[in-house]
Amino acid sequence: MAAPLPIAAHREEIIARLRAEQVLIVVGETGSGKTTQLCQYALDDGLCAPGRMVAVSQPRRIAAIAAARRVAEERGCAVGGEVSYTVRFDDTVSASTRIRYLTDGSLLREALDSPRLERYSLVIMDEAHERSINTDVLFGLLRRLLRSGARPDLRVVVASATLDVRKFAHFFDDCAAVHVPGRAHPVAIFHAAPPPRAPDCDGRARAGRVEGAAAEGRYVEDAVELCMRLHRSRPVGPSEDVLIFLTGAREIALACAALEQLAAADAARGAAHALRVLPLHAGLPTDAQARVFSPTSAAERKVVVATNLAETSLTIDGIRCVIDCGYAKVQRYDCARGMELLSTEPISKAAARQRAGRAGRTRAGECFRLYSEEAFARGWPDHGEPEIARAALPSVALSLKCMGVRDLLAFDLLDPPPRRALLRALSDLHAIGALDDQGVPTELGARIVRLPVEPRLGAALAKAAELGCVDEVATIAAMLSGEDVFLRAPHANAAGTAGGAEAGGATADGGGWARARARLAPGGAACGAAGAEVDVREADQLLLLALYAEYARTPPAAIVSWAAECGVQLRAMHAARDVRAQLVALVASSGLAARAAPAPCDEPLGRRVRRALCAGFFAHAVRRVGTGGDACVPLAVLAGASLGEGGVGTTSVLLRPLAHSAAVLNGAHALIYHELVWTTCAQMRCICRVESSWLDEPLRRLRAAVDPLVLAGARPAPDAGADADGVAGASGGGARARCTDARH
Ligand code: CDP
Ligand code: MG
Repeated sequence: MAAPLPIAAHREEIIARLRAEQVLIVVGETGSGKTTQLCQYALDDGLCAPGRMVAVSQPRRIAAIAAARRVAEERGCAVGGEVSYTVRFDDTVSASTRIRYLTDGSLLREALDSPRLERYSLVIMDEAHERSINTDVLFGLLRRLLRSGARPDLRVVVASATLDVRKFAHFFDDCAAVHVPGRAHPVAIFHAAPPPRAPDCDGRARAGRVEGAAAEGRYVEDAVELCMRLHRSRPVGPSEDVLIFLTGAREIALACAALEQLAAADAARGAAHALRVLPLHAGLPTDAQARVFSPTSAAERKVVVATNLAETSLTIDGIRCVIDCGYAKVQRYDCARGMELLSTEPISKAAARQRAGRAGRTRAGECFRLYSEEAFARGWPDHGEPEIARAALPSVALSLKCMGVRDLLAFDLLDPPPRRALLRALSDLHAIGALDDQGVPTELGARIVRLPVEPRLGAALAKAAELGCVDEVATIAAMLSGEDVFLRAPHANAAGTAGGAEAGGATADGGGWARARARLAPGGAACGAAGAEVDVREADQLLLLALYAEYARTPPAAIVSWAAECGVQLRAMHAARDVRAQLVALVASSGLAARAAPAPCDEPLGRRVRRALCAGFFAHAVRRVGTGGDACVPLAVLAGASLGEGGVGTTSVLLRPLAHSAAVLNGAHALIYHELVWTTCAQMRCICRVESSWLDEPLRRLRAAVDPLVLAGARPAPDAGADADGVAGASGGGARARCTDARH
C-alpha cells in the first residue's frame, strides 16, 4: 500500500483511549482502515492479553472472510493461524489465533456458552451503522456485561462509517468517539430525468409511493446501457472501473449476461478494450467473491455488478463511476400474517451517499443515479430502518431468554423491536415447545438455541432425533440453507424480466426440479438416503433427499458427469455435504439425539421425515382452498385470531406453490412450506404434504393463548402473580409498566 491509511494517524489516540476507557467509538469513512487495522493496532500495541483474542464482529459473512484473508496477507500468515475467521458452518480458528473475524451471529452464539466473552480482550463491533439485528442484540448484551462489572478488563470498540454516532455514544454511557477524516475525492452526481412510467400493479406499499418502483427491472437495462456507453467512450485502466448497484442475485446475473454479450459483440467488431464483468452478492462462493478485488490491467475495464454488499462492508479500489439503481431488497416480517416477505424498496439517502462515495476513493469520480432528483428528495427516506424493526424475532428472543434475560420487553436495545413482533415470536417459540407456559426456556429450547439454524429448523431436527431420521432432516436442511443445488438455465434472457424476482434461488427457473423429478421418480417412488424407499411426490424435501442419495452413491470419478447430466450445481452439493455432516455432529453433541427414543421401525422413513419437518414448520402449514386450484390459505392465519397481542384479526392471504411443486400439491389437503419467495406474489418454496392430525397439537398450542406478556417475562404467570399483587396475569394492562430491571 502506497499512502498510509487515514486511520494510521489516529493509532496512538485510539490506543491511549482504550487503555483508559472500556468503550470507544471509531467513526471513519469507508476505506479508512477500521476493519483491517484496528485489530492489528490493538494486538501489536499490547491490548490483547496472552491467551486471549481480538474479536472483530461483522454483519456479513463475506466481509468476515475477506477481511481475515486481507489481514492474514498483511501479516504474512495463513488464514487459520494468527488471523482466522468464523462464520456459520465454517470455522478456521486455531490455538494460535489472536485476531478472529466472525459474523455477529457466530459471536452471539458464543455468548450463549460464554456470556462474559472470556476468550477476548477486545471486541470490535464493526459496521455498527448497518444496524443488523445480531449486532444490535450484541450491543445490548455488551452493555449489560460492562455494567455488571464482571469483565473490567474487556474493551469494546464500536466502528461505524457514518458520522451520526450520538445514539451509540448515549447507549454506552456517553463514551468517547474518535473521528477519522476520510480521504474522499469529489464525486459528481447525475440523476436520471423523471420517466413517464405507469405505476406498478403489485401494490408495494412503501415503494409504490415513489417513481421508479414502477421501473423495477427496467433499471437493469438502464444500468447495462449506461455502463456500455461509459465503457465505449472513456479511457480504460486501473482507476477507471465501474461499480453498478442492483438489488439481488437475479438482477445481477441478468445484467452480467447482457454486459458480457454486448462486450463480446464489441470485441468481435475489433474493439480495443475488454470489459471484465464481475458479479458480487452474498450468494456467491467465496472464491468468486474474492475476484472483485483483482487488479485491472491497462487494456481492460472492470465492472463489478453488486448488491449493497459493496456499499460499506467491502471496499473495491479503482472505481471511477458508480451506477446506482436506488433500490435494495429488504426482508420484512409481516407480523400479522406470520410471513417473511422480500420487497424492493428505495434505499435511504444516507445509503445513496455511501454508494456515490465508492466512486471517489482513489480520484475524483462520478455517480449516475437511475432515478430522478425530485423522486429522491421526496420519496427516499433519510435513514435506513434497523433490521430489528422489520425482522422476525424468534431466534433473538430465544437467545436472550437462554442468556437469562427475564423480561424481554425491558431489555434495553438501541431501538426496541416492535412489541407485536416480539410477542408473536414468543408465541411461536411457545408453540414449538421451546418455552414453557411461564416463558422459561425448556430443555428443548436450550438445546435448539445452540444449533446454528433458526429455531423452526432446530425443532425439526429435535423431532428427527426422536424419530431416528436426523441424517435425512439434516440433509434437507443443508440443501436448503446454501446455494441453490439446481443450475439455472444459462442466463435466462434479460428481456421481459420486469419482476425482479429473488430469494434463495429457485424462483423463476424450476427446470432443475422438474428434471430431477422426472429422472428420480418415473413411477413416483425413489430411494432415500438410508436406502429406504421414499415417495418423492409427498414432498419437495424428499426429492432433495433422493437427489442427495444419488449424489452420495455416485463414485468420485463419475461425479462431474453426473452433475452435468442432472443439471445439478456440484459446488452446492459439496457444500451441502459439509453442512450436513456438521449438523449431524451438532445434533449429536447437543444431547438431542441422546434424549431421543429409538426410532419406531414400522413407520416409513418418508413419513417420519415429513413428521419431523412438520414439528418445526407447522406455523407454515396451509390448507387448500376451493377445488382443483393451487391456492392455499395459511392455517396460522386461521388460528391467529387468538394469538393475544400478536393476533391477526381477519387478515387473510392466499399462497401458491412454485410451479414445479405441482406433483406434491396434487391430492394433498394440508401442506407445510419451507419458505416464501417473492415473485409477483408470495409463493411457497419447497412444500411437503402433512396429515391434518399432526397439526392438531401445535395448532392447539398456538390457540392456547398463553398470555405473550407472561412469555415475555413482563407479567407474572397467572398462578405465581395473582397472590403477589392481585394482577391475574391474563387481564389488566397495568403489569406491563412494572417491568423488572433489565440489568440483572
Ligand atoms: O473498514 P474500512 O472501510 O474503514 O477500511 P478497511 O476495510 O480496513 O480497508 C482499508 C483499505 O485496505 C482499503 O482502502 C483498501 O485499499 C484496502 N483493502 C484491500 O485492498 N483489500 C481488502 N480485502 C480489504 C482492504
Ligand atoms: Mg469496514
